[in-house]
Amino acid sequence: LRIAVLVSGSGSNLQVLIDAMQAGALPIEIVGIISNREDAYAIKRAEQANIPVAVLSHTDSGKRMAIKTFESHASAQLTAWQPDLIVLAGFMRVLSGSFIDNAPAPMINLHPSLLPVYKGLDTHQRVLQAGERHHGCSIHVVTAELDAGQVLTQAVLNVNINDTVESLQSRVQKLEHQLLPWTILLLAKNALSLTVDNISSKATTY
Ligand code: GRF
Repeated sequence: LRIAVLVSGSGSNLQVLIDAMQAGALPIEIVGIISNREDAYAIKRAEQANIPVAVLSHTDSGKRMAIKTFESHASAQLTAWQPDLIVLAGFMRVLSGSFIDNAPAPMINLHPSLLPVYKGLDTHQRVLQAGERHHGCSIHVVTAELDAGQVLTQAVLNVNINDTVESLQSRVQKLEHQLLPWTILLLAKNALSLTVDNISSKATTY
């Protein structure tokens, strides 16, 4: 499976995929990384693994690159890499419906909550404030509506009485590091069905 990964931050999930690929534990080839931040540590991880990186962050004037400009560059880059699957792993920019609809491959996202609850940001804090007993992470198909596409897989943990935002973040991240490679393995083995309506001409099913 040819995979492109979009990142914004530390890239610990990317590292898990790199390690699994290098160990031969996952039948994947990471064909390229796109970062929307030039200071993302994920870039170093990709470079160390000799994976092509495209950094699409800011304009010369220091202003945020317009979403249209970002998306047209990202789209051209993805098309050139010809991925079978696009993985958003800690990618913190919202993508437009037209970018998602015209993407060259199905896109999945890793989200730190048990979707459909707690879409969006600050999930750990909101889960604690609400006194939830359970929390976790989800991998879902990316659609134009934020964090709302078909949920593919989830991993759950119990929220402890002494949990903090930091402890939940770290515990959820450990789950993510297991859930992401496992989900990609299921997709690669056609053990999980992912139907992307908007790529109807290819009617992609993994
Ligand atoms: C993950 O916790 C993900 O759920 C959130 O951002 C974090 C990314 O971590 N959206 P990393 O960049 O893979 O280390």
